[in-house]
Amino acid sequence: MDFRHQSASLDTLAGQTCDALLVVLAGDRADAALDKVVRHALDDAIRHGDLELKRGKTLCLHRPQGIKAARLVFAACGEATPKSVKAAFAAGVAALKGGGTRHLAVALAGVDGVSAANAEALVTAVEDALYVYRHTKPSAPAAGALSKVTLLTDKASAKAVAQGLARGQAIAAGVTLARELANRPGNHCTPSHLGEQEKRLGKDFGLKVEVMDRKAIEKLGMGAFLAVAQGSAEPPRFIVAQYHGAPKTQAPVVLVGKGITFDTGGISIKPAAEMDEMKFDMGGAASVLGTLRAIAELKPKLNLVVLVPTTENMPGGRAVKPGDVVKSMSGQTIEILNTDAEGRLILCDALTYAERFKPACVVDVATLTGACVIALGHHHSGLFTADDKLAGDLLAASAASLDPCWRMPLDEEYDEALKSNFADMGNVGGRAGGSITAAMFLRKFTGKYRWAHLDIAGTAWKSGAAKGATGRPVPLLTHFVLSQAA
Ligand code: BES
Ligand code: MN
Ligand code: ZN
Repeated sequence: MDFRHQSASLDTLAGQTCDALLVVLAGDRADAALDKVVRHALDDAIRHGDLELKRGKTLCLHRPQGIKAARLVFAACGEATPKSVKAAFAAGVAALKGGGTRHLAVALAGVDGVSAANAEALVTAVEDALYVYRHTKPSAPAAGALSKVTLLTDKASAKAVAQGLARGQAIAAGVTLARELANRPGNHCTPSHLGEQEKRLGKDFGLKVEVMDRKAIEKLGMGAFLAVAQGSAEPPRFIVAQYHGAPKTQAPVVLVGKGITFDTGGISIKPAAEMDEMKFDMGGAASVLGTLRAIAELKPKLNLVVLVPTTENMPGGRAVKPGDVVKSMSGQTIEILNTDAEGRLILCDALTYAERFKPACVVDVATLTGACVIALGHHHSGLFTADDKLAGDLLAASAASLDPCWRMPLDEEYDEALKSNFADMGNVGGRAGGSITAAMFLRKFTGKYRWAHLDIAGTAWKSGAAKGATGRPVPLLTHFVLSQAA
């Protein structure tokens, strides 16, 4: 998609050359600056009860009189918050989806100026609406006609808008990559497939990428990761990818993504219902790879390392059993009481591996616990950290990118639940506060650097009719990484 901006005042909208004109209307009355013809169409629609200037309302007019564009779409957003403006962009694009529009022009009425955030939101809303999964579905609908989107701005906003469009395009490409990887079924998106995709990304963007096999993982002593991998016929991989935008002496941000390409639960097997959705259990890995793509495109002056431990979690004659004790790379032993708590087992060794980069900070991202879904639902990702500054930076990135997350507690009292009579710790802590005890488990491997954990079990994908990966939290992570450059 070709995104551009053009300075044009609201009183020239009727003469805009485009196939469709989308006018987002903020506030509860028509902007006086709107040109006469558009304003007349708007007043008329409101008077006849076909449109209300309330959040979520849209109206699409075909061949409106006196207007050059063949279609005129109004999308009301109520109060002009970044979130409501983005929702109005999305509703406007949805109204045109599948139609003959090739060139869409977008104007914002009732605001003081178009912000970088508005421009970014337009791009991510458009790309989000147009994504179609095709990899294993030849009958999927063909791509629509839309190929060019022009955001109309006032002159003063042009520079900010250009930056917002560029950032939006990088983030959208990262989100699309994450969605694409996570949507691919478990028999396509295997650990080796993730390794190959990462190699390709490395080639495209000039990144250093290393993909380790089982032997190399054994050599590192990653006993917890290997315990999960031992039950599967698919070979595991450990992916290390590096972006250098600053001198090598500068401490990198490290992102770690859970890459379980299918989670059966192992010997502690899951119930059959909805088990197919456990192909999305590599959503953390997909999101850190998507973020790496976004960062590699934006080229900020910082260093970024992405770590992905990836394997299936399968039952079988070689699978790890409840009660087995394994030794992690850190030297700490773990009693595996439940083989379905496998995410923390692959992450803990990757978190130990992260130490060698002497990181500025480490953030791990994982579809870690059903308990997080119970606690927060499908809107907010869970944020766990003992570091208030890091929490603040992640919450700020979350707000700026409209990719919500919510801070959860992480007090030492929760540690009690992980005690074991046979190892340094157990891998589960009972039902109470399950997402917190999972984070407490990870915390035991992060003593040497600043660390935060994002539990995306409720936000990485959607179930039901709209089943599919969301690409979250690529927007949050990209904003966060960029914020660490300053
Ligand atoms: N991948 C799951 C977490 C999950 C479950 C994400 C449902 C999204 C929806 C994870 O590996 C898991 O199975 N966690 C267990 C932990 C338990 C055994 C302590 C869970 O949440 O039930
Ligand atoms: Mn599991
Ligand atoms: Zn899992």
